[in-house]
Amino acid sequence: MEEEYGLYINGKWVASKGRESFTTLNPYNGEVLAVFPKATREDVDAAAQSALSGFKRWREVPPPMRGELILKAALNLEKRKEELSRLISLENGKVIAEARGEVQEAIDFFKYIAGEGRRLFGETTPSELPSKFNMTVRLPKGPAALITPWNFPVSIPSWKIGAALISGCSVVLKPASDTPLCAARFVEIIEEAGFPTGTINLITGTGAEAGTLLIDHPAIRAVSFTGGVSTGREVYAQGAKRLIQVHLELGGKNPLIVMDDANIDLAVEGTLFGAFGTAGQRCTATSRLLVHRDIYHELTDKLISRVEKFRIGNPLDENIDMGPVINRRAKDTILSYIASGVDEGGNLLTGGHALEGGEYSKGNFIEPTIIETRHGTRISLEEIFGPVLSVIKFSDFNEAIRIANDVQYGLSSSIYTRDINRAFAAISLLETGITYINAPTIGAEIHLPFGGVKNTGTGGREAGSTAIEEFTELKSVFIDYSDRLQKAQIDTASRFKELLT
Ligand code: UN1
Repeated sequence: MEEEYGLYINGKWVASKGRESFTTLNPYNGEVLAVFPKATREDVDAAAQSALSGFKRWREVPPPMRGELILKAALNLEKRKEELSRLISLENGKVIAEARGEVQEAIDFFKYIAGEGRRLFGETTPSELPSKFNMTVRLPKGPAALITPWNFPVSIPSWKIGAALISGCSVVLKPASDTPLCAARFVEIIEEAGFPTGTINLITGTGAEAGTLLIDHPAIRAVSFTGGVSTGREVYAQGAKRLIQVHLELGGKNPLIVMDDANIDLAVEGTLFGAFGTAGQRCTATSRLLVHRDIYHELTDKLISRVEKFRIGNPLDENIDMGPVINRRAKDTILSYIASGVDEGGNLLTGGHALEGGEYSKGNFIEPTIIETRHGTRISLEEIFGPVLSVIKFSDFNEAIRIANDVQYGLSSSIYTRDINRAFAAISLLETGITYINAPTIGAEIHLPFGGVKNTGTGGREAGSTAIEEFTELKSVFIDYSDRLQKAQIDTASRFKELLT
């Protein structure tokens, strides 16, 4: 019998006020893992009210003490890393080594952001008037709605929760319906650190219902969303109506450029990890390989022979290179992208099919696929979110940059070259929030800002030193200790004269 979960509100797991529920499945074999409620309007209201009362207490906790609790949560995560990693593989389908990497990313971020409790820097600056002092301080925005995707079911919630909490915001997390179990376990583990009641809340249900109700709730003062671009637009519009802070982290169509002077074997390794890690289901996935014509055949031949040796199967098996994709719908979408690539004249270099039968019969498996195409086809422009790599030939550096930039997204990019001048030129020319030199497009480290340009998102950068910006308001403070009325702009010149006499 699968486990039945409730919602986490006011520091307790509670039953939904409604009757509707949904199941979460193991993408490897279709087994039901758990049952979760679809939160109703009443549930969402209870969660938002809980966050509001939690906020009133949490904002009073001095930031270094908030950091102490976040650090404790990081240590709890460290203790339960293996358990949580296995749950990620089970519910999300990524291979266990990557699942461990993901939990590590959450631990790293919590440790990093805990220290921010002793920074949360403002500025001090002189006044134009004597005996007056100016500064800025950071204050929490209020209860935050965090809406997170299934592809990083622990680390993305950790970025958002960690940054919100250190800033003094309380949170309501609404995780993706494909991975609520990872989110619930994550919340259980971090809650053991002892956050005040109502600081952290969790609701489950669809984005269209629970997510929408949450963003519209008057208690919510900030929204942080990671997901697809069309939902992102709706979230932005909804937040705009309420004039609240909206942070969006959306798609990518990340290019990996290989120049003719590159270390080809290194580029092959990088491409394999970038394109097929997490079965290509990362916003940062390498989904376009742009190859200089002089090394095109050598590189693609090497790549194909490596991909054809991939072991595909149970992500919990340490020897497996790639697991299933998240669900049947995703599998169908990915297959239809491959078909459209072929229809538009693409040349399937390897893969291209679903894996069926035997071990694969109940799972959502697709072969790692490499397809030769030209810039401008659907598969060369749209985010696929699966193990499909489009390969495009180019003739010179400028053409590579032009193709790389000619998409709606701008999250991550990469160039393999040994030419330092080209590497630096690429850093300034590639229109993405992240650029790698001689490394694939995935694998960002948490102490640098994460995010992108163009349709990849808006509202600042997650992680790194910028993480707190989406959850804090800056207040400018003017302290006059002259004991008389001093009018800025108006009295400034006369005060100056006074000082000279
Ligand atoms: C995502 O795919 O949304 O840089 C996040 C990376 C990971 C995070 C990816 N650290 O690939």
